[in-house]
Amino acid sequence: MTSSTRILALALLPALVAACGEPDYLPVEELIKPESCESCHPQHFEEWSGSMHAYAADDPVFLAMNARGQEETDGELGDFCVQCHAPMAVRTGATTDGLNLDDVPQHLKGVTCYFCHSVVAVEGTHNNPLTLADDGVMRGGIRDPVSNDGHRMAYSPLHDRESTESSALCGSCHDIVTPAGVAIERTFREWKESVFAREDIPGAHLSCGKCHMIGDREGTVADYDGVPLRKPKDHSFPGVDVALTPWPEKPAQLAGIERDLFGAVNPILCPDSSSSTLGFIYSLDNVFAGHMLPSGAAQDRRAWVEFIAYDDRDQIIFSSGVVADGQAVAEVAAQDPQLWQIRDYGLDESGDIAHMFWDVRQVKSELLPPAVTNDPSDPAFYHAVEKAYILAQNPARVTARMHMRPIGLDVIDDLIASGHLEAKYRDEIVTFTLTGTELEWRLADHGQNCVDRTSQ
Ligand code: HEC
Ligand code: HEC
Ligand code: HEC
Ligand code: HEC
Ligand code: HEC
Repeated sequence: MTSSTRILALALLPALVAACGEPDYLPVEELIKPESCESCHPQHFEEWSGSMHAYAADDPVFLAMNARGQEETDGELGDFCVQCHAPMAVRTGATTDGLNLDDVPQHLKGVTCYFCHSVVAVEGTHNNPLTLADDGVMRGGIRDPVSNDGHRMAYSPLHDRESTESSALCGSCHDIVTPAGVAIERTFREWKESVFAREDIPGAHLSCGKCHMIGDREGTVADYDGVPLRKPKDHSFPGVDVALTPWPEKPAQLAGIERDLFGAVNPILCPDSSSSTLGFIYSLDNVFAGHMLPSGAAQDRRAWVEFIAYDDRDQIIFSSGVVADGQAVAEVAAQDPQLWQIRDYGLDESGDIAHMFWDVRQVKSELLPPAVTNDPSDPAFYHAVEKAYILAQNPARVTARMHMRPIGLDVIDDLIASGHLEAKYRDEIVTFTLTGTELEWRLADHGQNCVDRTSQ
């Protein structure tokens, strides 16, 4: 049976069950709509509605890239992109290539409640190998859920943040191997190689959900009679990306992103006394991302360091990574030989930069790695990445900080130039400053000493 005929067949089940005196559960054709959950789970709905999971098939950059990919590959891309960005639309047969998404009902777009909560098996490590039960049962991490007339329920280790298996549910969608065999997004494999995947080290294991679905406040998880107090898990999934069009919950998304980025990277700034020329070393330690930083679409992200040195009259004597609003980092890079970019480079057959997935044959990766051990005596314990800046003159003051953009303006310009993206979206691309990485060294106060967050 195809998944669409299964959904139809199963839609009849609740009616049969109701005849035997069980509650009149929502039929599957209602359960697949996120709006059906709103009356009983208003908070989960609100958080999810602002998430990039909800936005995944509405993002104009996604629509533009998919459309261009279909053209440039003569349709060979098929459902490759939509299998993750609109999995319910693919599985119900509402789309085969994502080119008709304007006509697909909204409830089938994005990564929906029904999709995640119906997963029964993970049959691979990448490209969304998730099997759905389509049996009307909503799976979650609660072992004693209160019976209700919305739906049946079951405990599932794939949905329980305390279990390692749960990372496979998230991770197998957050790991992309292109049709050409290039591992272009690798969040899941990066996590598996990190200390956070280690169940053998006491206290080390943190699943994707432990970091990305915070559940530290008490409340009910449903507006329904007789439900106890529990710890509802945040469903807003902030990362780096933000909606470019009017979309619910934007302030909450931005606040979530700034919160997660704040503590993620630990900086140190040192005068380089070992070097024969004048120099400074800025070091960045990815302390709290359970994978590389940035991760995922790291070929599209732009993360870079802004480093400025001043003389004793506070005139700038050296700068690197000073990027104006609306300016592409790629443009600055051309005249800034010491620029530190923290990103992946997608390369085509001839080794040139490629912006589009399907052209990429190789990835050159320059990211901040996560911790692989929590044993300080292990040489691998220290995993910070350093950059030495060479100066021509002794500074009186030096400042350094890291910035990140969800997508490079060079990529956006490429999509505008090919006629696939409207130019107005360019102004919507935000630039985040990771304020936790901001450091200032002053000769008068610090001399030959390093500065870190505690010495500010
Ligand atoms: C008529 C009310 C109602 C509707 C509609 C409803 N739910 Fe629920 N749901 C509940 C109640 C009640 C619980 C149990 C809460 C508890 O025990 O604290 C629950 C629990 C859950 C759980 C946890 C299951 C577990 O064992 O961990 C999930 C997941 C869930 N619902 C998903 C959904 C989704 C997705 C939708 C929309 C398709 C939905 N619900 C619609 C009332 C409803
Ligand atoms: C069906 C595939 C799929 C599953 C399963 C899935 N995701 Fe996602 N996720 C996506 C897609 C697609 C996006 C990006 C949408 C966009 O930006 O257009 C995304 C976005 C995100 C983001 C925001 C990224 C950003 O840069 O803004 C986070 C965080 C995230 N997912 C975490 C998780 C976690 C944690 C889980 C498991 C509980 C999970 N995802 C399960 C497909 C999936
Ligand atoms: C130890 C905590 C931790 C764990 C475990 C963790 N993450 Fe993250 N993740 C973070 C932090 C902090 C950020 C923000 C830094 C950033 O955006 O790069 C982040 C960012 C992300 C982003 C946005 C990345 C980007 O640059 O576009 C995605 C997507 C994501 N995580 C998915 C996952 C998935 C999937 C898993 C499990 C396989 C996972 N995370 C495990 C802490 C964690
Ligand atoms: C990306 C996958 C994903 C999506 C999309 C998603 N959920 Fe969840 N949800 C989870 C996971 C994983 C858990 C369990 C976390 C745990 O218990 O450790 C969960 C837990 C829940 C629970 C149990 C209570 C709680 O907070 O633990 C409810 C209810 C729920 N989700 C409803 C919804 C509704 C309603 C939507 C859509 C509006 C939705 N979910 C969308 C992954 C998802
Ligand atoms: C295996 C699942 C999967 C496939 C296949 C996939 N994506 Fe994604 N996509 C994701 C996830 C997960 C994210 C979020 C990554 C992150 O935040 O780091 C994402 C993010 C994005 C983004 C927003 C981030 C950015 O780059 O600005 C765009 C645009 C995008 N994908 C386009 C595409 C296109 C076009 C295709 C097909 C050529 C595609 N995706 C195929 C899972 C997938």
